[in-house]
Formats: sequence, structure tokens, C-alpha cells
Amino acid sequence: MSARIIDGVAHAEALRARVRETVARLNVSPGLAVVLVGDDPASQVYVRTKSRQAQAVGIAAMDHRLPATTTEVELLAVIARLNVDPAVHGILVQLPLPAHIVTANVLRAIDPAKDVDGFHPVNVGLLATGRSEDGFTPCTPLGCLLLLKETLGDLAGRDAIVLGRSMIVGKPMAQLLLNENCTVTVAHSRTRDLADRCRSADIVIAAVGRPGMVRGDWIRPGATVIDVGINRLVSADGKSSLVGDVAFEEVFAVAGALTPVPGGVGPMTIACLLANTATAAFRSAGVDSPDWSLAA
Ligand code: GUN
Repeated sequence: MSARIIDGVAHAEALRARVRETVARLNVSPGLAVVLVGDDPASQVYVRTKSRQAQAVGIAAMDHRLPATTTEVELLAVIARLNVDPAVHGILVQLPLPAHIVTANVLRAIDPAKDVDGFHPVNVGLLATGRSEDGFTPCTPLGCLLLLKETLGDLAGRDAIVLGRSMIVGKPMAQLLLNENCTVTVAHSRTRDLADRCRSADIVIAAVGRPGMVRGDWIRPGATVIDVGINRLVSADGKSSLVGDVAFEEVFAVAGALTPVPGGVGPMTIACLLANTATAAFRSAGVDSPDWSLAA
């Protein structure tokens, strides 16, 4: 038996279509400001993709590209302007920031009502207290959750392991799964007996940034595996390819369902950003925001 492939491209397309339809019913045009500091090539690609997909669903994307030498004070001034700009409903500061800028100061400066990344402490706290529907949930874990619910239905009582404890994926993913009544283990670089712990899980979320780390014999037969890794490998002849944190062929042979890389979590992350931006615009217009879960 081999795994069912969870088609992130198709699910993301369906979510973007729903965002487009709901945005068309709103009588304001949602605006998303994307701030990029420096010229990291991967970040430039992400920002371009976000802007293009925003425009395609009727969200006005406003890119703010700042030089790598931008000071923290200058960046905070840009955010302060965006916070009070009524045309801007969502603000995203692309991470990582250059080392001379304190990321926490920047994230704290964003108006929580425009924080479509869900990284402001107010939104982190709402998620941790089980009230994420009043704030914003980080886009990558939200995309993973939507794919899991679409694949498995009710998640209550399932054993889930999250590999990685980052602010962007691991920690919010664990909170989301807890809110769905999963029994959650968060594993990280100091975790002992990692393979054994994985083998007892019904759901494995791999978000460590190590190509192919999760092997076939780590997976319980029939488990659902979500691969958040996006690792660029360059072969000896100079060809570049994207691979996940999961050894795909091995895990494919054992798992019940598996997300591919590319074409799994990545497209869902951007679709969730657009959904969060639409939610921000709905709230600012005083209209109830839609429930974006795919099964709804
Ligand atoms: N860098 C990698 N992932 C993300 C994300 O989800 N949001 C932002 N702002 N930066 C990122």
C-alpha cells in the first residue's frame, strides 16, 4: 500500500477561489502591505508570489522594498505609517530580517488588527488561550491544519508530533492541534528517541529544515505526514531542486497520506495569508468574517 498524496495546489486553489468570491462581495478593496528588508533571493521570490496571488483574488498588494542597511527606527516608522493607513488591512514583514534589527521589536510594532502573519504577542496569546478566531493564526500552521482536517475530518484524540519549535511553525502548530483536542508532542534538536516518538504518532508535522530527515521507518503505517520543509538542493551539475524534511519515497510507502514538496504546504501558506487579509478587511468593515475551513 502507498500513501494518498494530499494535493496542496488544488486545496489552495479552492481556498483562493473562496477568498476571491467573498472579497468581491465586500465594498472595500482589501489591501496587503508586504515589507521586505534586504535582498535575500528566497524572500524576494516569496514576496513576488504573495503579491501576484493577492492581486489575482482582488486584494491590492503594496510592496515596500527597503535596503539591507535600513535601521530598526526607519523600519518602525514604515510600520507606524502602515498601521494608520486606512487602505492597508494587512501588514506582513518578511522574515528573516537583517541581523541588526530586533525582530521582536518589529513584530510588536504591527497593529494586532492588521497582523495577518499572527506573530504579534496579542495574536500569539489569543491562539494560546484557544481564542484564535478573535485574532490571526500564522499562515503555515493554519494551512497545515486545513489540510489535516480535509484529510482526516475530526482530529480529536489523535496523537500528533510536531518536529520543530519555531515561532513561525512549530509552536503555533502545536497550539492549533491542542485546540483540536489532539495529544501533542513537540520535538526538537534535543529530543531523545525521536524516531520512536514519531512511530507512535497518528499525525507527523515535519518543520525542521533538514532535507529528508524523517525516514520511512519513523512512520507508523497509515499515519498522516505533513512536510513543511522547503530545502533547496543543488546537484553536482548545478541543477537546483526543492525537497522537504521527509524522505518522500520511503515515507510514501508507509504513510496513509502525505503532502509533497513542492505542491503541499507551500501553496496553502499563501492562500491562508490571503484569507487572513480578507478577514482583516471584513473586520474593519464591521462585517462578520467567513469561516475558511475547507470543509465548511
Ligand atoms: N518567512 C518564512 N515564513 C514566513 C511567514 O510565514 N511570514 C513571514 N513574514 N516571513 C516568513
